[in-house]
Amino acid sequence: MFQVKNICCIGAGYVGGPTCTVIAQMCPDVTVTVVDINEARIQAWNSDKLPIYEPGLQEVVESCRGKNLFFSTNIPEAIRKADIIFISVNTPTKTFGMGKGRAADLKYVEACARQIAEIADGYKIVVEKSTVPVRAAEIIRRIFKTSTKPSLSFQVLSNPEFLAEGTAIENLKNPDRILIGGDDNPGGQEAIATLSAIYEHWVPKSKIITTNTWSSELSKLAANAFLAQRISSINSISALCEITGADVGEVAHAIGTDQRIGRPFLQASIGFGGSCFQKDILNLIYICETLSLHEVAMYWQQVLEINDYQRRRFASRIVSCLFNTVADKKLAVLGFSFKKDTGDTRESSSIYVCKYLMDEGAHLAIYDPKVSREQIIRDLSHPTISGDNPERVSELVSIASEPYEACENTHALLICTEWDLFKDLDYERIYQKMLKPAFIFDGRRVLDGLHKKLLQIGFQVETIGKKVYPNTTVAPVYNPRQQDPTPVKKVRI
Ligand code: UDX
Ligand code: ADP
Repeated sequence: MFQVKNICCIGAGYVGGPTCTVIAQMCPDVTVTVVDINEARIQAWNSDKLPIYEPGLQEVVESCRGKNLFFSTNIPEAIRKADIIFISVNTPTKTFGMGKGRAADLKYVEACARQIAEIADGYKIVVEKSTVPVRAAEIIRRIFKTSTKPSLSFQVLSNPEFLAEGTAIENLKNPDRILIGGDDNPGGQEAIATLSAIYEHWVPKSKIITTNTWSSELSKLAANAFLAQRISSINSISALCEITGADVGEVAHAIGTDQRIGRPFLQASIGFGGSCFQKDILNLIYICETLSLHEVAMYWQQVLEINDYQRRRFASRIVSCLFNTVADKKLAVLGFSFKKDTGDTRESSSIYVCKYLMDEGAHLAIYDPKVSREQIIRDLSHPTISGDNPERVSELVSIASEPYEACENTHALLICTEWDLFKDLDYERIYQKMLKPAFIFDGRRVLDGLHKKLLQIGFQVETIGKKVYPNTTVAPVYNPRQQDPTPVKKVRI
C-alpha cells in the first residue's frame, strides 16, 4: 500500500487544529503540517497561547510541535509535499444571494481545491474534513479534472469529523467511529485503505466505517440534525414540565433508560448553540427544498423553531418573574460560551438571551471564564443582535472579571453556560450583595442539587423544566406565546 509520509491540513481552526494535532501524536512516522491564510492564528498555534481553548490540547501540541507537527502559512509548500491533504476550512451559512440564510457557502472549499489543482503534482489524496452539503466532493473532483498537468492524479474522500468542542481531544483519541467515504472503484478503495491506515495507528479497525462518498457526506449532516433534534425534543417537553409540575430531569432519566432512546443529549437547556447544529440543519433544509422535499424540510425546520422558542421562553420568563419589567434593572449573566470547556461563542444561546433582555432595557453584567471581553462585545454589537444601534451595548453591558463582581447589586443572576465552577460559588455571599427579592434563573440546570439550600438562603429559584416553589412569590404562570419577544433572524448575517 501507498506509504504516507506527509499530511497537510488546510485550515487551522476548531476542526483542523485539534484533529491534526492528535494525528501527529498518534503517527510519529508521519509529518503533519497545518496551514492557514490567517497569520495571527498560525502565530498563536506556534506560541504558548493557542488560538482555541480545549482541555488537553496544549499538552498534545507541546508533545509533537517542532518534531512531526508544524503550523505554517506556507500553503504551497505544504501542498506540494503532502501525500494526503485535509480540507478543514470553514463552510458558513451563506449571507447573500441564492440560498441566503440556508445554504452552506463553499467558496473557501472551492478556493482550496483550485489552489491544490494549481500547485499539486503526482498522486494526492484530498480529504473533505469540513462539513459540506451532500455531493460537494463532486465540485472538488471537477476542479481537479480541469487541470492540464498529466502527472497529477488524485482521489477525493469524505472523512467528516465528529468531535465536540470541550471534549475534542478525548473524542479524537477514542472516537465512536471514523467514517470514510470514497469512490466505489479500485482507485477509490485504495485511497480509503490508505487513509484508514492512518487512523488504524490508534483506532480499532472495527470502528472504521467505509461508505460511498455521498453517504459519508450526508451522514455528517444527519448525525448533527439527529443530535439537535433530541435537544429540541427534550426542550419542548421542558415547557410542559414548567406548567404541569413534572420535572424534565426526571422525565429525561425515565425515558433515557429505555435503551432504544438512550441517555445522552437529553439535557434540557436554553437551547443548543455552536457552529454546527444550526448551520447543518439549515443546509439540510436547503438541500431538501431544492430537491422539492418540502415536508422533509419542514420537519427539520421545526427543530430550529423550538430552539429559538426555548431561548425566547427563557427571556420572557425572566421578564415575567421580575414583575414584568427588566428596564434599567441590572442582571448578572454567568456564562457566555455555547457550552462549557470552550471559549467559542458561535451561535451561543447566551447571545440571544442577552439580546432579548437588552431589547427590554436590562443592564447586563456578564462573566465567562474563557470568553474575552472583546468577543462578548463583538457578538452583542452584531447587527442581528443590536440592530442599527450598536452603541447601546456599551450603555447596557459591562463585563466582569469574576462571578461575584458580576452579581453585585443585581436583581437576578442567570446561568447561561454550564461551567462547573458555577456549582461551587458561595451563594450566601452572592445573596448578600444582591437586591431583594433575589432571583436565580438556571438555564442549564447546574444548580439542581442545590435548590433546597438556595431557597433557604432566600433566593427565588427558576429553572428550565421545573417549578421550584415554595418560595416563589410570583407564580410563574404566564403565556409564553403572547409574551415572547420577536425571534431573531435565523442567521446572523
Ligand atoms: C456538535 C456535535 O456533537 C459533534 O459531533 C459535531 O462534530 C459538531 O457539532 P459541538 O457543537 O461542539 O458538537 O457540541 P455539542 O456537545 O454537540 O453541543 C452543542 C450544543 O447543544 C451546546 O450548546 C450544548 O450546550 C447543547 N446541548 C447538548 C444541550 O443543550 N443539551 C444536551 O443534552 C446536549
Ligand atoms: P471550523 O470550526 O470548521 O474548524 P474555523 O473557522 O475555526 O472553522 O476554521 C477554519 C479556518 O480555515 C480558519 O482559520 C480560516 O482562516 C481557514 N481558511 C479558510 N479558507 C482558507 C484557505 N483558502 N486557505 C487556508 N486557510 C483557510
